[in-house]
Amino acid sequence: MNIVSKEASLSPTILVVFGISGDLSHRFLLPALAQICSASNLTGKLSILGVSRQNKNLEEVLGPHLQSLRTQTELYKMNLSEAEDYRQLKEKLAGLGKDFPQPPQIIFYFAVPPAAVLPIIRHLGKAGLNGDHTKLLLEKPFGTDWNSAKELIDQIDKHYSEDQVYRIDHYLAKQMAQNITVFLGSNAIFRNVWNSGFIEEIEIVAAEAIGIEGRIGFYEGTGALRDFMQSHLLQLAALVLMEPCSDIFDFEEIPRRRLAALEALQPIPADKFPGRVYRAQYEGYTKEVNNPATTTETFVSLTLESSNFRWEGVPIHLVTGKNLDQKLTEIRVQFKKTSASASNLLILRVQPREGIEIDLWVKEPGYERKLQKLKLSFAYEQHFGRLPDAYEMVIVDSMRSNHSLFASSAEVLASWRILQPVLDSWSMSSDDLKFYKPGSTIDQVMGSV
Ligand code: BG6
Repeated sequence: MNIVSKEASLSPTILVVFGISGDLSHRFLLPALAQICSASNLTGKLSILGVSRQNKNLEEVLGPHLQSLRTQTELYKMNLSEAEDYRQLKEKLAGLGKDFPQPPQIIFYFAVPPAAVLPIIRHLGKAGLNGDHTKLLLEKPFGTDWNSAKELIDQIDKHYSEDQVYRIDHYLAKQMAQNITVFLGSNAIFRNVWNSGFIEEIEIVAAEAIGIEGRIGFYEGTGALRDFMQSHLLQLAALVLMEPCSDIFDFEEIPRRRLAALEALQPIPADKFPGRVYRAQYEGYTKEVNNPATTTETFVSLTLESSNFRWEGVPIHLVTGKNLDQKLTEIRVQFKKTSASASNLLILRVQPREGIEIDLWVKEPGYERKLQKLKLSFAYEQHFGRLPDAYEMVIVDSMRSNHSLFASSAEVLASWRILQPVLDSWSMSSDDLKFYKPGSTIDQVMGSV
């Protein structure tokens, strides 16, 4: 499927990539750009300026994506801590802009370590590279707690307005995540029962089979709560819990409703931690990061509640962990049973094999009156073929100024508010940290099998 089938809807763009030769760019950005450029004719629409400190050539930087990106990409060497270099960058961009039929927008993408982001933004601002035609495309983490996130937001605010800032949470851009809003908004049989009257509990699971993949410096100061729970899992929860939109394609409304859902989620009171907060670390992690005293969690599970009357009394379980038995992200919605009927489970599978599954009870054929649980399922790929990757969506939607796939500053703060008591408690004691064997199932990690 070609996501840029309407190239005409894309504004001409210069994409400036800070740190183009880094790991983030290789893993996510370049493959997505290569896919976009080979699927669509963006000549005259998109120019990529890859900024790097090192003396590398296009072949080395683009690697397997050379063929698809060569004509669009130029490398540019600069020192990111030199104010003068930003003035020269400004001239360079003005020169590049002349090749476009109309003045292009400039998107600055940061594939650099988190600590380098704010200094670059300040330099850009001071060099006047923050006009209305500029945008920032930022990767998480957005702070490490509520205070630091607020400070970061305030600092960025000094140079760029909120509508110029696109904070990536690539889970929001996954196809199934985008479908949640449509699924609930457009299917009356679910829309009408999407509340505590019919739903027993909701579980959102994001298991990963990989470990920390050599990202020691990043992960040691981060952990599963900050890396995954604050962003990906809380955003998925917000999509599930938000009031269904009356116009499912009202992209302005979606972030507002996600925010309301996040604001309704209640921080867990300290006396309720046992049973509602669980953290663990996989065995071998201390060796991997060469720190015998580390208490960084690689697995976390929280049970939240919403103050919205729609979700009164419905536990919302969020679980994520690394080095588990499989990679699987899914949203499980358990419906209530009635005195006469059994309960049904709805699964919205985010990855892999994106799709929807419902457990239904049927009568077994034959003379006996026996029930059997069967699945009614729909798989995206079977129906639509290849799905656009989340990063492709992120790039295209930032180009066309669609903010709905990005986290607003208010959403970022709302999610840190939910987690702050847990962060505060963990900073004082790590007595509750448990350990698990690599390859365990979630139930094994949580000690329920
Ligand atoms: C990133 C996290 O945001 O998402 C990583 O920092 C994690 O720790 C990754 O592995 C998972 O993304 P995906 O799309 O592979 O599920």
